[in-house]
Amino acid sequence: MKNKLLINNKKLKTTILIKKNHICKFIINISKKNEKVYCVVDSKIKIDLNFAKQKNIKIIYIQCGEKIKTFDGYKNLAEKLIKSNVNRKSVLIAIGGGTLGDLAGFVASTVLRGLEFFLIPSTLLSQVDSSIGGKNGINTISGKNLIGTFYQPKKVLIDISILNSLPKKEIRSGYAEIVKHALIKDYKFFCWLEENANKLLNLNKSILEKAIYKSIIIKLFYVKKDEKEFLSDNNSRAMLNFGHTIGHALESQYNYNKFTHGEAISIGMITEAKISNYLGMLSFDDLEKIIKHFKKCKLKIYDNVLKDKKLINRLIKDKKNFQNNINFSLIDKIGSSIFYKKLDKKKVNYILQNI
Ligand SMILES: NC(=O)c1ccc[n+]([C@@H]2O[C@H](COP(=O)([O-])OP(=O)(O)OC[C@H]3O[C@@H](n4cnc5c(N)ncnc54)[C@H](O)[C@@H]3O)[C@@H](O)[C@H]2O)c1
Ligand SMILES: [Zn+2]
Repeated sequence: MKNKLLINNKKLKTTILIKKNHICKFIINISKKNEKVYCVVDSKIKIDLNFAKQKNIKIIYIQCGEKIKTFDGYKNLAEKLIKSNVNRKSVLIAIGGGTLGDLAGFVASTVLRGLEFFLIPSTLLSQVDSSIGGKNGINTISGKNLIGTFYQPKKVLIDISILNSLPKKEIRSGYAEIVKHALIKDYKFFCWLEENANKLLNLNKSILEKAIYKSIIIKLFYVKKDEKEFLSDNNSRAMLNFGHTIGHALESQYNYNKFTHGEAISIGMITEAKISNYLGMLSFDDLEKIIKHFKKCKLKIYDNVLKDKKLINRLIKDKKNFQNNINFSLIDKIGSSIFYKKLDKKKVNYILQNI
């Protein structure tokens, strides 16, 4: 396993470092090379703040969660930076989960038309997924991530020691995105997860690092091929949306306060796997295998709101859709995904009532 991964093609340049107990050193190195460093930190994280002694580092704490991915959240952070005289040579480091990374990335890409940006993801979900690939954004009342940019961080540091304080529920939430990567792209990885999920969920270091590494490699496969989601084939970045059409609608239906992102997409993956099966694409055996694994790992698989007709209107608002069609990235077997399947709103409603 390499501990340094590079996205380095014509348009994209990001270094992803996987290294234990490295946060302080990483930040101090950045502070030596830059005039002014803003560290935006999730206030729940417990880390050694030795780096804060550096005179050119300013720390901004934020209480994180989906509620910060809003116009207000954007305004608060952007104005804080501007009031403290941020300039084009300033850099922004975000130390937090996916919500902080998404907000800070959007702020970094827009304040002064772009500040250099570094990410230290602090949840399993952000280490395996949201810190990779340069998507950022905020939500609107109409749905999730509807405003945002593509903006690659200069470096991402994945340090599993930061996960020690993370609640079990959040570890499971991140695990859902790991399973997603296996389901869309890598059958062998799924089998390995069946063997090792328990150890992983109990933060066994070597198992955890291997799963994070494998997950990042799968995500990078799509990001390198299709950074801005332009492709319309099975290499499209859209494949990473498996489970998310339903998952995002669930999150927004409950105003982002019932499920973690991983819980919502767990229900989304099982529902979309059932849709794949209903359409004759995924076998019953594979569907059963997936459900069994989810149950074993205590990932959520169902919610009553799936049968609520209001959910359909949420699904239509997903940014992948137009007119009365809903686009799903589905799977045709474990480890293989299919580019958007366009389904008519009425058909989706019928399927949801019957699965
Ligand atoms: N940009 C992308 O490509 C992408 C991909 C996947 C998900 N996402 C987004 O990521 C978000 C979800 O990210 P998340 O699950 O990391 O949520 P999060 O940022 O809300 O973190 C989950 C909870 O854990 C707390 N926390 C964070 N680090 C901690 C630590 N080390 N110890 C203790 N507590 C800690 C947070 O304060 C929060 O309460 C969603 O908004 C989702 O849309 C983005
Ligand atoms: Zn996700």
